[in-house]
Amino acid sequence: MKGVVLAGGTGSRLRPITFSMAKQLVTVANKPILHYGLEDLAEAGITEVGIVISPQTGDEVRAAVGDGSTLGISPTFIVQDEPLGLAHALKTALPFVDGDDCLMYLGDNLVKDGVRDVVTDFQEHRPNCQIMLSPVPNPESFGVADVDADGQIIRLVEKPTVPPSDLALVGVYLFDASIVDAVDAIRPSARGELEITDAIQHLIDTKRTVRASIVKDWWKDTGTKDDLLHAQALVISELAHNIDGEVIDTRIRGSVHVGEGSRIVDSDITGPAVIGDGVTLN
Ligand code: TTP
Repeated sequence: MKGVVLAGGTGSRLRPITFSMAKQLVTVANKPILHYGLEDLAEAGITEVGIVISPQTGDEVRAAVGDGSTLGISPTFIVQDEPLGLAHALKTALPFVDGDDCLMYLGDNLVKDGVRDVVTDFQEHRPNCQIMLSPVPNPESFGVADVDADGQIIRLVEKPTVPPSDLALVGVYLFDASIVDAVDAIRPSARGELEITDAIQHLIDTKRTVRASIVKDWWKDTGTKDDLLHAQALVISELAHNIDGEVIDTRIRGSVHVGEGSRIVDSDITGPAVIGDGVTLN
């Protein structure tokens, strides 16, 4: 299975941060968001990863990933000339996928439990497509699944004004080669994008099997400022208490991570908190 990680887009909801940087490179607990996803793919055994980048921020994404060795992946960078939608980004990456199964991952998403279980489930059941769903309080901001009493997906709708359920599509999608025809069959939506929900709806309409799994722990789309702050709180609160640096005459309460080569002197730190490598506080 190959990975396709979407790290292009415009990031308009995260302005002004995205005026000066790619939103996937914003750090959460001192690590770029994109690195969490790439490490999760590596942990699931997916090492060949196509990373979709934009002409505007592609170079910084290339620099942040490098040869991928520290993340456990081997990256291929794929330029999407214009941000014409998630299905357009996938279509741009299809020559790289070359008929294999693929896992598409939105590069600004964080999934607490990673993707290993969903990859195993997909490989055991061999549906044409597998999606992950998570209940959210604001489904009108997401792609949403209409699910029947047996848990079968009836239809998918992108950012509905009247949501059919509170089950949002998490930014992780697994496909076999039938996605090739589906992305060719769809047309741009009212907002001018090729929607991945329309491509999956095409699979449903043509009687392909689309399997859903519900995310057990938290998942976060970091597309807005509030989501980003919430993601910081979630990740930092789960970091193990770990002091690698030097701590002198300092009171530490709660879970605190102090990086290597850091020196904390005469301070009072209340966790959850993370202090990076090589930091001096006094
Ligand atoms: P979105 O957050 O849906 O889109 P966006 O980045 O354009 O943001 P905004 O709505 O705030 O303008 O994208 C989800 C992920 O997919 C994100 O990592 C960007 C990426 N993406 C692409 O790579 N190509 C695209 O054409 C789109 C729409 C998104």
